[in-house]
Amino acid sequence: MPPFILSSQNVFDYLISQGICAKHDQSLSEIELKPAKNFNLLLTLPEGEKLLVKQEPHNQEGKTAGEFLLEWRVHEFLKRFSEFSQIRSSFSEAIHFDAENSIIVFNYLSNYQDLADFYSRENLNFFPPEIATVVGTTLASIHRLSFERQEYREFFRNTESRLSQETPNLTRGLDRITPEVFGKYPADGLKFFALYQRYDSLGKAIAHLSDTFTPCCLTHNDLKLNNILLSLNWQTAGEGEPIIRLIDWERGTWGDPANDLGTAIASYLQIWLYSMITGRTIAIEESLRLATTPLQLLQPSIAALITAYLAHFPEILERCPDFLLRVMQFSGLALIRAIQAMLQHQKTFGNSGICILQVAKSLLCRPEASITTVCGQQASDLIPTHLSHA
Ligand SMILES: Nc1ncnc2c1ncn2[C@@H]1O[C@H](COP(=O)(O)OP(=O)(O)O)[C@@H](O)[C@H]1O
Ligand SMILES: [Mg+2]
Repeated sequence: MPPFILSSQNVFDYLISQGICAKHDQSLSEIELKPAKNFNLLLTLPEGEKLLVKQEPHNQEGKTAGEFLLEWRVHEFLKRFSEFSQIRSSFSEAIHFDAENSIIVFNYLSNYQDLADFYSRENLNFFPPEIATVVGTTLASIHRLSFERQEYREFFRNTESRLSQETPNLTRGLDRITPEVFGKYPADGLKFFALYQRYDSLGKAIAHLSDTFTPCCLTHNDLKLNNILLSLNWQTAGEGEPIIRLIDWERGTWGDPANDLGTAIASYLQIWLYSMITGRTIAIEESLRLATTPLQLLQPSIAALITAYLAHFPEILERCPDFLLRVMQFSGLALIRAIQAMLQHQKTFGNSGICILQVAKSLLCRPEASITTVCGQQASDLIPTHLSHA
């Protein structure tokens, strides 16, 4: 069995068989490949409507990881509970799921682009804080609307799968070097593990984060900038036309909201970290200072993201007074996961990897001081005034 079932040759027949497309559309439609983690196909129908068909690879035994199950469950959740109809337009639009073949079909939103693309285009270094504000507001609404609602929690619990336990193992792949690690990672990977393990405090901070993990609302769990869509008309968009939509809910589950905000912040920090200039004779501090996207350019967006989030979901600070510290720690953990991904795909852990690990360590081990570094503001300036004790 080939790893992928659908190709540009047979995708149309499949969509016709599922009642999604009509036969007479076929000759007038276009099909293009969307390079991504999976073998995605983008179809343009005669009326201009676009469909994104995602499929998972099948292994030798014909099995898939089953990641679309969680995504589809989130869309079922939105349909099931009418309170969510007001913010359904802040999500992607899934229209068909085929569990047996691990295929999921979305309406492709062609008047949007993802935020990673938006920020990187033409190296403009253009980071309007208004955009981060809407991301913060959108995320806060999703968390707040589902916050501590028992029937929602039951929904996710009753459909729990092996891919989603409420309390994930945060130290996964980090706690000890197994023979598997030697096989999986290149020599550079061992350099990373040696460094990681030299900082005893890092492992302890992650273990603490794991112990205090508090599942209490619907969470995305992979909120990187390329999973956030921005309307092409974001400057002029009117009511009812969402500026920001969160897509790719393959890890969506009942989780800890600090993780989502932390992951989004880490994604902003990565723009800075991946733009640094490294070299054997350049000290780490110097590398970070020479970055072509200096941290100072991103600070207003990160501060706006946090401020808007807290303003729209102040309850979280009452329930969890150290919320912001945990957000910083989760962003450090997200950076470590990014290094692991880099090691797996590009097989390198150069000076930039060392820099990123240093930043991750500060976030995890000195979260309080990190707030000021990352936002360019004191924590008390980010918190709604009636809750600030400063
Ligand atoms: N419904 C959509 N409308 C517009 N763009 C999309 C849509 N879904 C995905 N994209 C674009 O395709 C990219 C990959 O899609 P995504 O669902 O995140 O797949 P993956 O699981 O491969 O990350 C996104 O980062 C975004 O740029
Ligand atoms: Mg994605």
